[in-house]
Amino acid sequence: MKSTEVRSLEKYKAPGAASRELYERASRVMPGGNTRHSVALAPYPIYARSGSGCRITDVEGEERVDFLNNYTSLILGHAHPRVTEAVERRVALGTAFTMPTPEEVELAELIAGRVAYVEQIRFCNSGSEAVMLAIKAARAFTGRPKIAKFEGAYHGLYDYAEVSEGPTPDDWGDANAPASITEPGTPASVAQDVVVLPWNRPEACRKLIEQHKRDLAAVLVDPMPLGIGMIAPRPGFLELLREETARHGILLIADEVLNFRLDYHGAFHVCGITPDLATFGKIIGGGFPVGGVGGSRRAMSVFDHTGALKVHHGGTFNANPVTITAGLETMRQMTPEAFDRLNGLGEYVRNGLRRLFRDTGRPAQVCGAGSMFVAHLTAEELTDFRSLRGFSRTNPIYTGLCHKMLEYGFILSPRGVFGCLSTPMTEAELDAFVEALGRAFSELS
Ligand SMILES: Cc1ncc(COP(=O)(O)O)c(C=O)c1O
Repeated sequence: MKSTEVRSLEKYKAPGAASRELYERASRVMPGGNTRHSVALAPYPIYARSGSGCRITDVEGEERVDFLNNYTSLILGHAHPRVTEAVERRVALGTAFTMPTPEEVELAELIAGRVAYVEQIRFCNSGSEAVMLAIKAARAFTGRPKIAKFEGAYHGLYDYAEVSEGPTPDDWGDANAPASITEPGTPASVAQDVVVLPWNRPEACRKLIEQHKRDLAAVLVDPMPLGIGMIAPRPGFLELLREETARHGILLIADEVLNFRLDYHGAFHVCGITPDLATFGKIIGGGFPVGGVGGSRRAMSVFDHTGALKVHHGGTFNANPVTITAGLETMRQMTPEAFDRLNGLGEYVRNGLRRLFRDTGRPAQVCGAGSMFVAHLTAEELTDFRSLRGFSRTNPIYTGLCHKMLEYGFILSPRGVFGCLSTPMTEAELDAFVEALGRAFSELS
């Protein structure tokens, strides 16, 4: 089926529909019927059968263009032949050993060869683990207990990184000194060890860092945080964080789990800033579970069991050769030219969206960079997490929009106009996407 044809969602909603039956079974054995909240969709998710290139076929046999790419982790799209072939070869040779494999050395060399601020790296199984390890490393390196992170920024599941990742207005507190809000299930004491910073408020950040400088081990920052709607840092903002952390002996941790897809040399390379530690995940696993923490030899020395070991780092499946093989093959495909082409397509779709909103007189702003985009349906100034309130994340239009886009043959987040691209895409898919989004908006309004 072509992506321009309309697929009625009636089939998926009908009694006996394959996704419906799977969801009913799932709900009996998994709370909420899923094992990952990010796949939830009302009334229930569409189950995937297979993927190829930039398209996914669902269990009903419908094919759609995938603008989510497993939340940015599939930069080559689905089942890239070179990755599939390499993985098949590797699987046949055994999948897990209580021994290191040559592949992990190669991937470590590849990343250290591309990213100037990564002299050494260690692998783990998720971005959450990578962030946890970076925070532990910073604490061990500095001998200080606290970290600072930004209100609204998502960094995975570690208790300290989760603080204030999506607080409600009642909990916000002072705009220049946001409250530290823990998740239910996290001890309240965790809040005392997390300083919450306001995005794009340099003076407030300077003061908070100064105020906590004796206790702060690290400032954790994603240069284009999806949780803050990919609102770009103001000129000089990241530089200020680098200066203030360096002044007080605080480590700067770059969270590149998502944004490593911005550039061949890393996201902070684009910003011209050298962090002390950086976390990786998603694309470096080529479609398999992965994480990585890297940085300067000095900062990474806390993991060195041949020296003054400070942070123990085990993990049964760390650097498993299947993941690492897929990651290696993927990163090899992502040459500087491949990044340039993909980022050019990113600019193309962001411009297409801007044109659409302008031509239809719909107030909206398009954020994002590289191969990612977020469109916010407002003309109000966007500066930080708080400025997104009321139209982002919680806007009821997004579920309807997601359903309409599914009917038109596109997979988009049900939590906003957020998407990312993969290398099999061409301008044709992007034009069709923008056109379908225009139709979806006009039908919904
Ligand atoms: C910036 C950032 N950090 C950390 C994570 C956590 O990674 P994972 O889902 O692999 O645990 C994510 C996941 O989306 C992320 O976007």
